[in-house]
This record gives sequence, C-alpha cells and structure tokens, in this order.
Amino acid sequence: MEKRFYVTTPIYYVNAEPHIGHAYTTIVADFVNRLYKMRGYETFFLTGTDEHGDKIVKAAMQNNANPQEYTDKISAIFKKQWQSMGLEFNDFIRTTEERHKKVVQYVLQKVYDNGDIYFGSYGGFYCFGCERYFTEKEMVDGKCPDHQKPLEFIKEDNYFFKMSKYQQWLIDYINEHPDFIRPERYKNEVLAMLEGEALEDLCISRPRVRLSWGIPLPFDNNFVTYVWFDALINYISAIGYPDSNLFKKFWPVSNHIIAKDIVKPHGVFWPTMLKAAGIEPYQHLNVHGYWNMEAAKMSKSLGNVVTPSQLLEKYGNDEIRYFFLREMTFGLDAKFSEEAIVNRINYDLANDLGNLINRTFNMVNKYCDAKVPSFHDDSPAGKTDMQKALDDAMNHYFDYIDAFQFNLALERLWDFIRYCNKYIDEHKPWQLAKEGNTRQLQSLLRNLLEGIYAIAYLLAPVCITKSPVIINALKAPVQYPVEQLVKLSALTEGSIIDNPGILFPRLEKENDKAPQKTKKEEKPMEESEGLIDIKDFMKVELRIAKVLQAQAVEGSSKLIELQIDTGKDTRTIVAGLAPHYTPEYLVGKKIIVVANLKPATLFKRTSHGMLLAAKLSKDDKPILIEVNDTVPVGAVLS
Ligand code: MSP
Repeated sequence: MEKRFYVTTPIYYVNAEPHIGHAYTTIVADFVNRLYKMRGYETFFLTGTDEHGDKIVKAAMQNNANPQEYTDKISAIFKKQWQSMGLEFNDFIRTTEERHKKVVQYVLQKVYDNGDIYFGSYGGFYCFGCERYFTEKEMVDGKCPDHQKPLEFIKEDNYFFKMSKYQQWLIDYINEHPDFIRPERYKNEVLAMLEGEALEDLCISRPRVRLSWGIPLPFDNNFVTYVWFDALINYISAIGYPDSNLFKKFWPVSNHIIAKDIVKPHGVFWPTMLKAAGIEPYQHLNVHGYWNMEAAKMSKSLGNVVTPSQLLEKYGNDEIRYFFLREMTFGLDAKFSEEAIVNRINYDLANDLGNLINRTFNMVNKYCDAKVPSFHDDSPAGKTDMQKALDDAMNHYFDYIDAFQFNLALERLWDFIRYCNKYIDEHKPWQLAKEGNTRQLQSLLRNLLEGIYAIAYLLAPVCITKSPVIINALKAPVQYPVEQLVKLSALTEGSIIDNPGILFPRLEKENDKAPQKTKKEEKPMEESEGLIDIKDFMKVELRIAKVLQAQAVEGSSKLIELQIDTGKDTRTIVAGLAPHYTPEYLVGKKIIVVANLKPATLFKRTSHGMLLAAKLSKDDKPILIEVNDTVPVGAVLS
C-alpha cells in the first residue's frame, strides 16, 4: 500500500483571533504531519478558516466592518499566526473562496438530485455560538452546555437533508470500523447519539432575507447554505473533489483532528453527507479534549484567553509544542497552567535532555578534542544494550503516534533519554579517562553521541528549532533512514562537533520570585537586627546536585575535589569533608550546593560553589546534608 497521510484541523471561525485551543489542534496536526513525513509518507496538511454564518456577520457588525473585509482581516491573522509558529501546512482554505463555493454547490446539487434534500418547515432551539439546533436531550436547563447561553427558538421554512435515512448505515459503519472515531469514548458518544432516538433530518439552509452571507443553494437562490454543511466540505474542496489527483491520493487516508465540542457535526452530519453524496467516509476522526483554564473551557466569551503569541514569546516554540504534546492525554481534558509549562521545561527539557547533551558534549570536548570518537568493537561499552533500549523506545514511539497517544510516545522517548543519563552515571567516563582506558572511553562517548543523534532525530517533529541545532552541532545527516537509527552508527568518525550551548535553560517559577515588601520599616529596629531580608536570602542559589566523581586533593588532609551535576551544568567544587568522608562514599550522593558563589582557589583547585554540611560546633565533624531520591537534580531550594 502507498504510504500516504492526510491531516486536517477544524477550519476556525473568524469571529475571534487565534487562541491556544486553536494553536493546540494545529500544532498536533503539524506534529503528526512531520512525523509521517519523517517515516517516508507522502503527506498533506490542511487548515483554514470558516467564514460564513450568523456569528461572523454579527462579529463584523460589532467591528464596524463588512463581512468580507472582516473575514479577510481575521483569516490573515490566523494564517500569519500559524506561519510565525513554523507550521508547515500545505494549504489554507477559506470558505469564501470560489474553489470552495463551487464544490459546496456541486455536492448540494448531487444530494438534491439523489432525492435526499427536501423543502419543509422546522422549529427548534438554536445556539448561535455553535450555529446549530439542539435537541431537548442535548440542552441543559434550556442552555447550550458549551456556550452557557439560553438557546433561541427559531421556526422557519427551509431545506432539509434526509440525515435520518442514513442513521442505521452509520451505526453499522461505526461498529464495523472500531477506530473510525477515536479515542473510544467519542465513538461511544456518537453511538449514543445515534442509538438513543430517531435522528432528525438536518436543516441545511437559511432564508436569504434573514442571512445573505453564505453560499447560495444551487437549486434555490432565495436560500444560502447552512454554515456547517458548507464548512465540512472544506476537507474535500481543498484537495480538489471530485476530479483532482490530490483528492484521489489523499481522501482514503484522511485524518480529521478536532476537539470534543464539534463531535456531532463531524461524527454524524459529515459521514452521512458523504454517504449521500456517494463519497467514501473519511478514515479517522481524532478527537481531543479541552484545555481548561481552571474549571471552565477557555473561550473568548468567558474572558480567560491566553494568546499563542504571548506563550511563544515567553517560553519558546519548541517548549510549548513539547508541553502541549506531553501534557495532554489525547481525548481527555487537561489543565492549562504556566506552572505546568515551567515544570515540563525544567524537568524534562532542561534536566533530562539538556543535561544529557551538555554532559556528553563537554566530555567529548575534554577527552576527545571535540572529535567524534571511534567505536571499538572489542570494548564492553554496552552498545547492544543501548541499541535494545533505543529499539524499544522507537517501536513504542511510533505505535503510540499511530494511535494518537502522543504523551505516551514522548514518555517512551524520555525513557531512552533517562537510559542515556544512567549510562553515563554507571559507566563513569571520567573514571575511564583517569584510568587511561581510552578504547572504552571512546566507545562510550561514541554511543552517547549516536544516542543523542537518534533522540534529536526522533524529536525533530516536536522541537522544530532545536533538534536541527543538535543535529548540526553533531555534523550529522539531516536526512537519514529512520529505521537505521538503531544501528547507532550515523556519525562520521573524526568530525569536529560544535558546542550547541545551553539549549533548554532552566526557568524560575513566577511564584519563586521574592514577594515585594510594601512598607520599608515594618518592624522596630531591635527586632530586625541581625536578620536578613528575604531578598538577600533569595540571592543565594541553592540547588540539588549529584556527585559524579570524587577524589582526595593531594597535599591536603581535609579537601576532596568533587565533580557534580547541578542540573544546569557539570562543575568542580572543593569541600573540606576528609577525613570524615571517603571519596567512594560521596559518589552518587545527592547534595545541596550554593551554586552562585564566586569561584575560589584552594590547593590550586578552583571550586565553583560550595556544598552544605552541618556542624554542632566549629571543630565538630561536618555532616553532609544528603537529599533523598525523590528530589530531582537541578531543583532549586526556596
Ligand atoms: N468553525 C468550526 C469548525 C468547522 S470544521 C469543518 C469551529 N471553529 S472554532 O473556531 O470554534 O474552533 C473549534 C476548535 O478549536 C476545536 O474543535 C478545537 O480544535 C479548537 N479549540 C478551541 N478551544 C479549545 C480548547 N479550549 N481546548 C482545546 N481545543 C480547543 O468549531
């Protein structure tokens, strides 16, 4: 079978500017599109804007513009937003374009000619936010559950699509294709809509006297097309239905991505429309949950919108993509908070990934003159184990991506990142260097560089800016057969690697900042004497670090030189712990260090910081403050 993949986002209403909910769906589409491309698929990624209907006219009026000017403006903002985020869509469709209108009229005529559209009268409860009627069962206290606004009763003569005719067909189709709508909870939701009661026919027109901003019905010029019937057709009009090659190539592999708010139009209206028009159903409908700001859905009407531009500027494009993909379980709601973003950046990106890269590049610099070392087959540097770990991670990675379980895919990739960090800790390259075990040291570092290349390669659809930086720094191939990554032999021996610098700097949490003192003198002098201001304390950067290596300082009876990992770098400190502690005891311990101390030289060694130890009196034996395993390296004490 040809390897092809077609992915779409909803076309967004142009009654408001893009927010992070829209950005999430569009990033997910961009991510899967890149991933399939990476695996050699021919892909097509479509997004766009939905520009007809009552609410667009209302929004234009509120902005003192005519609908065309208004939609031109907002649609361009959406397109520019996605471009500024580096999203690689193949097409951006607008429902006001001629190419789209033509196809909508073609489909309407076809369904009309087949006898599936009739003229009738209907009265029902309508939500202008959703642009659709609600059944008694769907409304909550007379309101739309999404927009939390009272529904309006509307009665008028209109054209109707015989949706009810296809009810049983759709039930059977869904049952025969269990992953047609996924995850399963949404398949069940659609089945519940279909099985509960008789499906009503769909009102697909609006009288022109009430609404003229729409596509005229080809068989009655007094009516325009209902906005959902118009909008859904974008998925085929953009790829040139009925005749184009693009349509033939990509429609059979179509993957729609939407949130749970528009399951009914996509899960019920759209497949029955396709059936009536004699078009095969789409391949998959992939439904995700909402990003919630506190309890409520984020929306303009609720006034809790964070703009994508604000987020990107503050945290970076790759970081936000990673956060979105890692934090949300596709299908379930997720809580949006900046604290969660900072945690993901600090723990996953700065600590696990950033650290692995810094440590490895520093060691290759130090021990191999920044050259990609050779791998020696005779050296027991654990290549097979690393290959196994990578193979395992990759298989799971792609399986989870195919099932749209992105958080699990990334978790598996992080297993491999953590494996590499552990590989360093266990094999202790610095010890091999000290022992002069060059062959094993070289093999070890080569494995690590190859492992980092595989990580950067697999992560390229997420970290669209920084993965290429890592790959460039390694002087590694930009195009590489993905199935060969497990061989761990993509790099060119002897090529000089660059220093990629700190790619994922650690961030301070907003609420870590010192509270501002409001009044200058809050306490009488005597009480505050000898006390320091919180601001002074906050100047001290206390970090959890891990001891990587330790050795006694020659000529000193007290000093031990330690190599430590602070979460943001690997550095040397000198501590007066001998003779109470042996170097062997210290290796692997998690300790607290003052990380922003000016360097000091002791016995010709420069100490970049100080560890914390406790004493009851000045001459007492120092007791090292050790931290238990639950506290991550790099965590800052506050
Ligand atoms: N125009 C219709 C879609 C027609 S598709 C043929 C529409 N537009 S919309 O502007 O309201 O976009 C809805 C979509 O935006 C959701 O389905 C989802 O993809 C995205 N999101 C909007 N708010 C969201 C969250 N709070 N969280 C996650 N996604 C959200 O409906």
